[in-house]
This record gives sequence, C-alpha cells and structure tokens, in this order.
Amino acid sequence: MSSDSANSTGIDPAPAAGGRGRRGTAVYLGGAAVVLAVVLGGSLVIDLSPAAALALAVVVIVMALALLARRQMRGGASTAGSAVVHYGVAGVATLLLIQLVPYGRSIPDTPVVGEPAWADEQTRRTMVSACFDCHSSTVEVAWFSKIAPLSWAVKSHVDEGRERVNYSIFAVEPGDAAETIAVILDGSMPPAYYTRFGRHPEARLSGAEIAQLVAGLQATPGMGGDDSITGRYGDDEDDDDDE
Ligand code: HEC
Repeated sequence: MSSDSANSTGIDPAPAAGGRGRRGTAVYLGGAAVVLAVVLGGSLVIDLSPAAALALAVVVIVMALALLARRQMRGGASTAGSAVVHYGVAGVATLLLIQLVPYGRSIPDTPVVGEPAWADEQTRRTMVSACFDCHSSTVEVAWFSKIAPLSWAVKSHVDEGRERVNYSIFAVEPGDAAETIAVILDGSMPPAYYTRFGRHPEARLSGAEIAQLVAGLQATPGMGGDDSITGRYGDDEDDDDDE
C-alpha cells in the first residue's frame, strides 16, 4: 500500500507534465487543422489554385511551429494562449510577406484591336459588365483584388480567360468566341466564384437578361449563333493558336 502511494506520488509529476505537453501539442495540431481548413476553404471560394493554397497553409503552420520552438527553448510551455498568438502572428506575417510577390499585382491593358460587330448597344453593355473583367484587353480590378492571395486568383482567371477568348481582339483572334452563347446558356459563364457572396451583381444575369443577351448574340456574327454554323466565322477557329 505504502509502495503504491509512493509510486503514485513518484509518477504523478510525469503524467502531469506529459499531459500538459500533449495538450499543448494537440492545441498546435488543432491550430494547423484550422489553418488548413480556412486556407483551403477560402481557396475554393476565390478559386485559387490548391497548390498555392497548400503552400500558404504550410508557410503559416511552419512559422507558428518555429515560434513555438523559440518559446520552448526559452523554457515556455505550449498552451492554448500561446497557440492563438503564434498562429495569429504567423498568419499576419504570411499575409504581409506574400504582398512582396509581384505576380498579379497589376493586370496591364493589352491592345484593343476590334470587337465583334455587336447587334446593339445593350448586347455590348451586358457583355462588358458580365464578361469583360476576364475576356477583354481592358480589365478593371477592384482595389481589394490587388491584395494577395486574391490578386493571384484574379490574375490567373484573366490570363486564362483572355487566352480562351478576348472580345477586344475578336477581329483578328476570335478564339473560343463561337462558344459564347453556349457557355451563357449552360450557366458556366460568368463563373460561379465571380458572382458569389453578392460580388459583381452587374454580372448576375436574370432569366430575362439572359434571354435578351442571347437574342443579341444570335444577331452578332461569330458568337455561336446561326452564322457560326454556316461557317461564316467558323473558319477562324483554325487560327486559335496563331499567336
Ligand atoms: C472571372 C473571370 C471570368 C468572367 C467574368 C467570365 N469568364 Fe469566361 N472564362 C474564364 C476562364 C478562367 C475560362 C477558362 C476556363 C474555363 O472554361 O472555366 C473561361 C472560358 C470561357 C469561354 C471558353 C469556353 C470553352 O469551352 O471553350 C468562353 C466562350 C467564355 N469564357 C465566355 C464568357 C462569357 C460570355 C462571359 C460573360 C457572360 C464570361 N466568359 C465571363 C473566366 C471568366
């Protein structure tokens, strides 16, 4: 009996310390999981590439663990409080650091060569407000879209969008313009991430607006209306990769 109590008193400090260490470790692992969930979830919302999101999460987590290691070297323990501070500092430091990455900081205008022969002014206006932020030579970017990592997502959307079809250079390079009516009707354009959370309400088209736009595009050569089927502009599709 006395040996039991001796044992327990002898052992007690160790589990207590181990318990504190384990709790501390669990808190940091939980923090890492939260960072991963927030960053990957956020990347889905803004359509940032998963690779970039993963890299961001890793930077934050590694930085937080480095701060923890420094604290432990100085004799401090890992606690919930220290985890919150370390992940907070790491998150803010990462956000500041990535502003140094030049990619996406600005989206320069490219030459305007010749737009489609829009059937009417309303058709052009709707196309400008719903599509030109990614498919024109003169892209307008909100101030907050210049902040990384959102700027990275925007830059890749514009690069990819212009590559598929740039309505400002339609006259020489129609690209996938003949798909215009099809992608509007199947709802894939404008992309869901673009109008999510009430952003870009001018690009969120009602059924009536879509019907009116499609009618205008039917009467605009090269947009995938009847004229494209007859091949009047269809021939140009072979020139896609001429650049
Ligand atoms: C936020 C950027 C963005 C906006 C706004 C946008 N697009 Fe796109 N668009 C893209 C990207 C990126 C691609 C290429 C990847 C894809 O197909 O999802 C694309 C592809 C396309 C393609 C080629 C599809 C194919 O299958 O060949 C067409 C045509 C197109 N968009 C038309 C439009 C039209 C019309 C609008 C407006 C109603 C519009 N887009 C609005 C980004 C955008």
